[in-house]
Amino acid sequence: MSIRKIIIDTDPGQDDAVAILLALASPEDLDVLGVVAVAGNVPLSLTQRNARIVCELAGKTDVPVFAGCDKPLKHTLVTAEHVHGKTGLDGPQLDDPTMPLQDQHGVDFIIDTLRSQPSGTVTLCPLGPLTNIATAFQRAPDIIERVQEIVIMGGGFFEGGNITPAAEFNIYVDPEAADIVFRAGAPLVVMPLDVTHKALTTPAHVAAFRGMDTNVGHMVAAWTDFFERFDKEKYGSEGAPLHDPCVIAYLIQPDLFAGRHINVEIETQSDLTRGMTVADWWGVSGRAPNALFMRDVDADAFFGLLAERLSRLA
Ligand code: BDR
Ligand code: CA
Repeated sequence: MSIRKIIIDTDPGQDDAVAILLALASPEDLDVLGVVAVAGNVPLSLTQRNARIVCELAGKTDVPVFAGCDKPLKHTLVTAEHVHGKTGLDGPQLDDPTMPLQDQHGVDFIIDTLRSQPSGTVTLCPLGPLTNIATAFQRAPDIIERVQEIVIMGGGFFEGGNITPAAEFNIYVDPEAADIVFRAGAPLVVMPLDVTHKALTTPAHVAAFRGMDTNVGHMVAAWTDFFERFDKEKYGSEGAPLHDPCVIAYLIQPDLFAGRHINVEIETQSDLTRGMTVADWWGVSGRAPNALFMRDVDADAFFGLLAERLSRLA
């Protein structure tokens, strides 16, 4: 398979950090053209900092990091320090990054890249609220047909929501942006909570990360230790869901995942169910499919891939 060019749009977040590391550790599969930060888990001033910390940790200071939108299209920003801690990357001790933040706005980078690269060769990987992608699509609708694929972490159907009973965090934070992206017509793959809640760390996985005895291995172990306390308390689960790495794993090894091509629409009007991904899994609406909505993952193979790739980093 040829190397896929990707833009990672992200709000790190410990699980975002692992996703970025997985991508940067996989040059035979992925060419990371840039990392664009968005406000989400924590404000933009922290997500852009965290994105640079993660690129530096991977030793990839040549990957350009951009700051995108600092607030959702319509609503006040909702953050998730209760999950990720005050910095978004709580857990290990982290130094300030030294690599620069690019001057260009992240949305302009997305637009320029899609216009300058051959059409159909750039995949967008949103790991946070969809504000940057929606803004780019609104500002430059010509880029939509140039997108190869959008692979999103967001939503939930069988699992319900995680920030409200109905909504998953990334979609809830900016449902208007999600609505724009889901209606855009670009090929869409969705990794909802239905999948990511099956990609749970176990004590053995965390021990394996630590056992790599590399800087990256220790960091990832410390992040998962911190991140998993929330889900253990909430769901009584054994570990933490590695939500965002599912997006990158799909690009490397799509057959780890299984789902259906269905219609998915976003609730933007209701106070009660704002940000719900209304997924027509059973095909009862007659509405045209617009997304490959995943439901299952081979968790053992997923963690095998993650361990193999992360062990390459120092
Ligand atoms: C999503 O929300 C964030 O807290 C995680 O980074 C992930 O992208 C899970 O709902
Ligand atoms: Ca995220």
